[in-house]
Amino acid sequence: MTVSLGAANRDPLKFERPDSFDISRTDANWHIAFGKGIHVCLGAPLARVEGQTAFETLIRRYPALRLAVALDTLSWTQNILRGFREIPVLF
Ligand code: HEM
Repeated sequence: MTVSLGAANRDPLKFERPDSFDISRTDANWHIAFGKGIHVCLGAPLARVEGQTAFETLIRRYPALRLAVALDTLSWTQNILRGFREIPVLF
């Protein structure tokens, strides 16, 4: 069985306004981006530290970082793991 993590993490029965990025949402850690159960991602703690370091460093070094295009022109990959094809930025 394959679960679409991108869909599960935006399940409207589970999350209010599932398509809005809201860093302050209290239910954010209900996501299953690292899987669930016996095969849950072994690298999740490392990935979290890496992500925190990467985003903190990016924002510190490029405080004027912003989108170079309109938000609604970004397109998504169609894989199980959901992500933007590209994110053009100015800095
Ligand atoms: C943002 C980064 C990452 C994401 C989103 C991610 C996501 C996942 C997901 C969804 C699974 C479960 C797959 C399944 O159900 O069969 C998984 C498994 C796994 N991940 Fe990650 N992962 C990430 C980073 C890492 C890193 C950095 C490592 C190692 C250093 C790692 C090692 C593993 C391993 C070994 C498994 C298999 C666990 C098992 O089957 O028992 N992952 N990962």
